[in-house]
Amino acid sequence: MYSVLLTLHSLVRWLVLISLLVAIFRAYHGWLANKPFTRFDNTLRSATVIIAHSQLVLGISLYCISPVVRYFLNYFKVAVHERQIRFFGMEHITMMLIAIVLITIGSAKAKRRAIDKQRFKTLAIWFTIALVLILASIPWQFSPLTSRPYLRWF
Ligand code: HEM
Repeated sequence: MYSVLLTLHSLVRWLVLISLLVAIFRAYHGWLANKPFTRFDNTLRSATVIIAHSQLVLGISLYCISPVVRYFLNYFKVAVHERQIRFFGMEHITMMLIAIVLITIGSAKAKRRAIDKQRFKTLAIWFTIALVLILASIPWQFSPLTSRPYLRWF
């Protein structure tokens, strides 16, 4: 169960990044070039939220069964000084939760805007901040202390 959730969480990370990047690209293009907010843009907006929420559900489930997190919670006083353990026990979850909240708020605000340019602008700003937080909080393979593979398979 643990390895299935870890693999899914690792793979869905790419869906999160792709959907955010495409949504952000379309948002800046629409905002700066005064494009109409199409049905595709609206679908992309909600798809980005759905994918982020799916990753949240996977992340919470993983958090409940991860041996790394269990070690962090059981030996908090020691583990909080160990970079890799603290990252998964505390930093990763905090930053990702904030990012997903930003995606949710940005999407809801954009939906309520009456003018297309304002919709694009709202999405562009909120989604960009979320993307920066996500990029900074992924345990990339090149991260010296929290290195995790770019791809996992079942
Ligand atoms: C956009 C949001 C997120 C992204 C892109 C993301 C990405 C990742 C990646 C790439 C890994 C490494 C997986 C591997 O070892 O192959 C990971 C690990 C982990 N993530 Fe996330 N994550 C996100 C949100 C969350 C959230 C919200 C939680 C908790 C509520 C969470 C909990 C965890 C845990 C516990 C691990 C490590 C599990 C272990 O090694 O035992 N993640 N995450």
